[in-house]
Amino acid sequence: MIGEVTRAAVVASGPSTTLIYDDWYPAMRASEISGQRLAKAMLLGIPLVLGRTSSGRYFAMRDSCPHRGIPLSYGWFDGKQVTCKYHGWAFEPVSGQCQEIPSLTKSDSLDPCRIYATAFPCEERDGHVWVYVPQSGRGKLRAEDLSQLPLVPEVPKFSRRFRSAYLTADLPCNIDHGIIGLMDPAHGPFVHQAWWWRSRASIHEKEKRFEPIENGFRMTAHQPSANSAPYKLLGVYGEPITTTIDFVLPNRRYEIIRCGEKWFASLTTVTPTIENHCRIDVCAAWNVLAWVPGFTSMLKFFGAIFVGQDQQTMVEQAAGLRYGPALMLIDDADKPAKWYFALKQARLRGTGEHPMAGPVTLHWRS
Ligand code: FES
Ligand SMILES: [Fe+2]
Repeated sequence: MIGEVTRAAVVASGPSTTLIYDDWYPAMRASEISGQRLAKAMLLGIPLVLGRTSSGRYFAMRDSCPHRGIPLSYGWFDGKQVTCKYHGWAFEPVSGQCQEIPSLTKSDSLDPCRIYATAFPCEERDGHVWVYVPQSGRGKLRAEDLSQLPLVPEVPKFSRRFRSAYLTADLPCNIDHGIIGLMDPAHGPFVHQAWWWRSRASIHEKEKRFEPIENGFRMTAHQPSANSAPYKLLGVYGEPITTTIDFVLPNRRYEIIRCGEKWFASLTTVTPTIENHCRIDVCAAWNVLAWVPGFTSMLKFFGAIFVGQDQQTMVEQAAGLRYGPALMLIDDADKPAKWYFALKQARLRGTGEHPMAGPVTLHWRS
């Protein structure tokens, strides 16, 4: 898989937002970690150093030595231990356990093994390195906590053989604006206008059914949008097409299109990196149209245009948000955004109640 990174060179200001901890977030592409290289990433404002041990385990540590705070990424990694550049403390990077303090003498009673650098649970899925970010101050995760972590998110797959691709872009906005943008149904005809896709004149009334799911909501459809090209392409299979789009806290949008044995699925996440910045990552997998030459490149080409249009809109929106304007959410087009905020509040309060009592049909024009 090859990926493109587009960076938005804009600094956004304005109020930040609360973050959801105790969940998995994609930190970076696994392909950026090779050999004994230490890679750096920012996740929820936390600096990370990532790598892969010689036995093949990915690790993610806070990029800060517990001794005096120098970034561990300045140090050395031999495939087994990360050694701090300042006083040479050596850490096992998956657990964070300190294994050696070179300055200790025989008369010292300090046991290095009781010292831990902060290490986060870390797993690879779909070519992304996912990191579990606990609430800060919770202390080290114990073995029993680790065995109860939620599953690492991944793109749903429905056959053994499939193709895949991914895209990423920085968004100069806080996580809430990033997610609203992800779930916003009404911007399509304006932001994503293109002769090969759709025009503003193609706007028409839509009726979509939503239902509550755990930690989110689902949009179901048996007859996908008549005016969207990929669905027209799938028409070649002559089977009924079904599509579902799920939003799941904290930041995930799953889209699954199925047509008999054929399927196309994607997982899009918007991940807080530094204050007022997010990164959007789109991972897709499919077994459709494998015989069309250049289908993967075509998909990536058009996908990059789409993500670029959303990114450009966020850059422009940031120019307005700088002055802290009052904003509004309207029915029905912004109803998914309202559900997101309600779900998030319930999660942050720890109450977990769902804003939807049952299935709802929404109407909007797009
Ligand atoms: S600061 Fe890392 S060993 Fe002292
Ligand atoms: Fe968009």
